[in-house]
Amino acid sequence: ADLPDLRAALLAWFDRQGRDLPWRQGPEGQRDPYRAWVAEVLLQQTQVARGLGYYQRFLTAFPTVQALADAPLADVLKAWEGCGYYARARNLHRAAQVIAQQGFPEAYGGWLALPGVGPYTAAALSSLTLNETRAVNDGNVRRVLARLHAEPQPTPRWVQAQADALLDPARPGAWNEAVMDLGATVCTPRRPQCGDCPLSPWCAARVSAQPTAYPAPKAR
Ligand code: ADE
Repeated sequence: ADLPDLRAALLAWFDRQGRDLPWRQGPEGQRDPYRAWVAEVLLQQTQVARGLGYYQRFLTAFPTVQALADAPLADVLKAWEGCGYYARARNLHRAAQVIAQQGFPEAYGGWLALPGVGPYTAAALSSLTLNETRAVNDGNVRRVLARLHAEPQPTPRWVQAQADALLDPARPGAWNEAVMDLGATVCTPRRPQCGDCPLSPWCAARVSAQPTAYPAPKAR
């Protein structure tokens, strides 16, 4: 009974208070793959607030994957200007040629095979565009899960196992974005807002009154 209640609480919070972001349009679990892919690659190394303008500019320059595939690389780099980590733009351009030939991926492995798409991005995209049950795992997820279980030393294997176990199989894409939003806005590294957290009834770190002790800060 606990796990369904925890899932329902986080998803209800997300439905009410999740961030309204331009790449979050479209039916849940069937998001437009082009727009979702551009957003996830951009967000690999650019924060949401900074990414908004670049996202709009890139989509205006290249409204479809065919337009991106057909564009000269120089134009793609130009549209990416100021954003940094230009390998992302080169990979988007290369991957667009593959997608123009083969179509968009139809499973996690297909996303992962594209240049510039690693496990995090493939999990995000397969959940958001294909409704696949793939849990994202990054620093935000690690922090949220370490606090929930009061685990000071979360290993990568532990984090992935916990993330897989919690993921709501009925709404995997929404679940992943809910965890992202929780980590970005409530369960923040330094000043977590436990009073606003939909997971506080289940959170072991909150009971300890030391949420920032999880995960333990790196020794230095
Ligand atoms: N960071 C990576 N993917 C994201 C998404 N879909 N929404 C918000 N932040 C993200």
